Amino acid sequence: MASLSSTLLVTFYMTFALLLLLLCSHVVSARYHHHGHRGHHNNKKQHKHNSHISYPPSISPEPSPSAGDEGVYDVRSFGAVGDGVTDDTEGFKAAWDAACQVQSAVIHVPLGYSFMIQSTIFTGPCQSGLVFQLEGTIMPPDGPESWPSKTSKRQWLVFYRVNELSLQGGGVIDGRGEEWWNLPCKPHKGPKGSTLPGPCDSPIAIRFFMSSNLTVQGIKMKNSPQFNFRFDNCKNVHIESLHITAPIWSPNTDGIHIEQTSNVEIYDSLISNGDDCVSIGAGCYDVDIRNLTCGPGGHGISIGSLGNHNSRACVSNITVRDSVIKQSDNGVRIKTWQGGFGAVSGVSFLNIHMDNVRNPIIIDQFYCLSKDCSNRTSAVSVSDIEYSSIKGTYDIRSPPMRFACSDTIPCTNITLSDIELLPAKGELVLDPFCWNAYGGQETLTIPPIFCLLEGNPPKVFENNDLGYCSSS
Ligand SMILES: *[C@@H]1O[C@H](CO)[C@@H](O)[C@H](O)[C@H]1NC(C)=O
Ligand SMILES: *[C@@H]1O[C@H](CO)[C@@H](O)[C@H](O)[C@H]1NC(C)=O
Ligand SMILES: *[C@@H]1O[C@H](CO)[C@@H](O)[C@H](O)[C@H]1NC(C)=O
Ligand SMILES: *[C@@H]1O[C@H](CO)[C@@H](O)[C@H](O)[C@H]1NC(C)=O
Ligand SMILES: *[C@@H]1O[C@H](CO)[C@@H](O)[C@H](O)[C@H]1NC(C)=O
Repeated sequence: MASLSSTLLVTFYMTFALLLLLLCSHVVSARYHHHGHRGHHNNKKQHKHNSHISYPPSISPEPSPSAGDEGVYDVRSFGAVGDGVTDDTEGFKAAWDAACQVQSAVIHVPLGYSFMIQSTIFTGPCQSGLVFQLEGTIMPPDGPESWPSKTSKRQWLVFYRVNELSLQGGGVIDGRGEEWWNLPCKPHKGPKGSTLPGPCDSPIAIRFFMSSNLTVQGIKMKNSPQFNFRFDNCKNVHIESLHITAPIWSPNTDGIHIEQTSNVEIYDSLISNGDDCVSIGAGCYDVDIRNLTCGPGGHGISIGSLGNHNSRACVSNITVRDSVIKQSDNGVRIKTWQGGFGAVSGVSFLNIHMDNVRNPIIIDQFYCLSKDCSNRTSAVSVSDIEYSSIKGTYDIRSPPMRFACSDTIPCTNITLSDIELLPAKGELVLDPFCWNAYGGQETLTIPPIFCLLEGNPPKVFENNDLGYCSSS
């Protein structure tokens, strides 16, 4: 009984999730229509499919006759042209649908070609061992004007319910983001530096949703319209030798965003962009980041923001080590809103080199994007945070260490060792800042820090958020 009802539940949830995926595009077309552009010739199509979806296979037939000898599915054999102009969506969908049904199949995107693909959802489950071998270039339609009005403007390529996939190769994903970054709704992009209301949705380049056992390796990604990679509700993600670039001024171009995702490895990668290098959202645990270079530019490695709209967030067991952060607005950051509940615990930042970074070490429990965020009594708690061997230089406009913790729920067990942060230029003007932060230093820090509170907070502060998180 129990397993039957849980199967039903899972089926229901997955159906619901697919609906949600589609709904995003509905919302977009509805809004687009509302604003009056192109709405008229879109009317009849409105209730047809809103995104390209490749459906999961039914019963597995013989491999497609177009497949190469060793289970290699060259997208050109499925009608893709790769001249940078032709719409190759159908070719990629057909290659996916065929390869998905065969064990250890390789979808091959050849070197020397540029394929234009519209917003597409590649759906699994597929047979195991599927490889998406990217050697050439893939790109979306160029900017909002050429984006088909009936497809979602919030995401470009989505891998949905895929249980084993390797996206790899020396190829390029060119997000062609420029026109999206310059929409008048983006900060300072209206006339005379204003920000105007209006359609603002911009696509995440690559999204993995409800998928597991994923590898992304060797790919170069440039100029994403919005987040480069987003993993939500995924398990077992391995990222290696990824190279992401976008201009420093490009809005919301987070490198890798993870959410409700566990067992993640991010190794040997370079990310230089306009927003968070890596952002870790609610529901993530067991994350290991090594040998990552962030910057020049961007907002560093962030846990959060968490607890927005009084939401619950649990994040634990996160390690970032042997990494470099350059000319960035933040180094390693934990940010939570006032309100909310849950906990961030067990975070280690080890051996990180800072090069002219503003706020190299920061915990901000008063994160707020508008002027008036009121203080609340509840908060996502922050505890067991370790900083070891954080060295290099900082931009003196901000203090080199800042621990701003909530009034009602202090940060606890912050440990510092081997911290050496010097001004990149000029004289040290600001001391480390602490508010309601408990912890200690195992070795003297440079600059010295005297503001951490010793020991444990008084009992009145105790909260059971941690228990709440681990019981889930
Ligand atoms: C993912 O990989 C693990 C370890 O190789 C395996 O045990 C698990 O069954 C795989 N999960 C799926 C959904 O393929
Ligand atoms: C670190 O990553 C870079 C690529 O960003 C790579 O060239 C280098 O070999 C890696 N270092 C180690 C020790 O693996
Ligand atoms: C923390 O995560 C790592 C993987 O990054 C895992 O190997 C380790 O077992 C986890 N630790 C705990 C206490 O769960
Ligand atoms: C919230 O609390 C902090 C710390 O006590 C204080 O500095 C800040 O001014 C408060 N903000 C508001 C909006 O009351
Ligand atoms: C403090 O945090 C560290 C991890 O940073 C952990 O190993 C240690 O057990 C914690 N101490 C207490 C008293 O909880």
